Amino acid sequence: MDQRLVEATVGAEAKVSIYADVVIKERVPKGYRIKALDEKLRKERTRLEARIQSDARQSGVSTPIILDVNDYTIVMERIKGDLVHRVINERIAEQVGETLCRLHAAGIAHGDPTTRNMIVSAGRVCLIDFGLAYYDGGVEARGVDVHVFFQTLEAMYDSAQQLKEAFLRGYARYCSDAALVIDRVEVIKLRGRYL
Ligand SMILES: Nc1ncnc2c1ncn2[C@@H]1O[C@H](COP(=O)(O)OP(=O)(O)OP(=O)(O)O)[C@@H](O)[C@H]1O
Ligand SMILES: [Mg+2]
Repeated sequence: MDQRLVEATVGAEAKVSIYADVVIKERVPKGYRIKALDEKLRKERTRLEARIQSDARQSGVSTPIILDVNDYTIVMERIKGDLVHRVINERIAEQVGETLCRLHAAGIAHGDPTTRNMIVSAGRVCLIDFGLAYYDGGVEARGVDVHVFFQTLEAMYDSAQQLKEAFLRGYARYCSDAALVIDRVEVIKLRGRYL
């Protein structure tokens, strides 16, 4: 293995070290929790993240291959490509729609489907960061995912409206009940506004 570190990031939950071919993601301690409880929760969450990520892959959604899981650490394939955040256009937004719909059809909600948690690699959209993912194929969970994606578009891009429409074309192509989810997104949006 090529052991040169390419990049390292430390987020609220995880320390991510990117090497030439692999990524090592370690869930960091939360100082405000009792140590034993913190260790238990981090181990559980690490295992769940790895399990959901590989289940998604088994369902035909492009995600990094899990190579190893150990206590607080996941070793996975490094996806070479560009963050959707940097390269999004209508064609990519449509592919994101297809990809998220496939994930949802498998009964999985991503939990944090922002444009920084997706990589375009060899012309395909690959989903990363299953740190907040959960098993739920219901309309509410799916609507929340779509709402989160739309919010990142609205915050970042002048062409958000066209990108949202492209996303929905992709989403509706593979999910026959897309209309239910799209209606729920409207309800979630209003709820956010009036809370
Ligand atoms: N398998 C991968 N291949 C290539 N780059 C990756 C991979 N995993 C993560 N990255 C890069 O590292 C960044 C951080 O990783 P990730 O999103 O998984 O962690 P995080 O946002 O800190 O996690 P969490 O939301 O669980 O706290 C990503 O935005 C991406 O740029
Ligand atoms: Mg992330």
